[in-house]
Amino acid sequence: MANNVRPETMERITTPELARAFIAEQLDALRAQIGDKKVLLALSGGVDSSVVAALLIKAVGKQLTCVHVNHGLLRKGEPEQVIRVFRDEMDANLVYVDAVDRFLDKLAGVSEPERKRKIIGAEFIRVFEEEARKLDGIEFLAQGTIYPDILESGPVKAHHNVGGLPEDLQFELVEPLKFLYKDEVRVVGHELGLPDNMVYRQPFPGPGLGVRCVGAITRDRLEAVRESDAILREEFAKNGLEGKVWQYFTIVPDFKSTGIKDGLRTYDWPVVIRAVNTRDAVTATVEDVPFALLQHITARITSEVKGVNRVLFDLTPKPSGTIEWE
Ligand code: XMP
Repeated sequence: MANNVRPETMERITTPELARAFIAEQLDALRAQIGDKKVLLALSGGVDSSVVAALLIKAVGKQLTCVHVNHGLLRKGEPEQVIRVFRDEMDANLVYVDAVDRFLDKLAGVSEPERKRKIIGAEFIRVFEEEARKLDGIEFLAQGTIYPDILESGPVKAHHNVGGLPEDLQFELVEPLKFLYKDEVRVVGHELGLPDNMVYRQPFPGPGLGVRCVGAITRDRLEAVRESDAILREEFAKNGLEGKVWQYFTIVPDFKSTGIKDGLRTYDWPVVIRAVNTRDAVTATVEDVPFALLQHITARITSEVKGVNRVLFDLTPKPSGTIEWE
């Protein structure tokens, strides 16, 4: 396991100069490892896979094929941004897979949180496997593994492991970030020219909005999660909270309550706002969001998001609540 321990001599990458040195070193190492062979990468658009993609595009260009699977549980604008940044701006080989119906059909009627996670994880592997089989001559699989994943110190990526590709589809791994901590990955990503909202984005769970559409996922309630999340993010950005608050998002529980709109009675869902700060995701405190801002966000969500008539703010630290609702 010696090659899974960060070398003691490795300096912490905190400056653009150190990031440039790391990038130069990795480009040489990647070219030496890959040669003229082909590499495959599952590109979610998260920080880690995006930085790996940017490095590989620089190192081996079109020998890399990125596969972006849209499982329907991504935030508003994310699939579009992946296509714009990687296909249009970086000229990468990008396979975009619209698997929305496939995932939502599989998830229909499933309310148990761990089963939802398993279905999403397993279906993801299946879609990726199908795409991998369509491509000829792939010898390498790139992954956005970072050092905390190896140390398994935090719960962040630890519990979405649903196994890997089947035996006959085993590739040699390419993991250029495996000795980096998250803050170092961000410095490197910034230096590689990735957009700030990609490099400095808040953590986002693998099962995505699926764990925020509490209980059995329906398309209309999932849209309410996606639209309310977009409003929350926009307002936090406008009001200087982006980059200050560790994680913030909305949840739409699976129940309705009465309300009034345009003089008529409604029976609609509530949206719950969660905004927390933490060091390691093991414990968390609640951000003291200005009340006037919460009122403004409430007004926007109840008027702009279909099927919603109330907004609640989650005051619960972790423990006793987890950060996500399921
Ligand atoms: P909890 O809800 O357990 O979340 O307090 C701690 C951190 O982990 C993220 N999280 C996940 N990340 N797959 C992931 O990749 C998951 O299934 C998952 N569940 C929770 C959560 O967003 C928070 O940052």
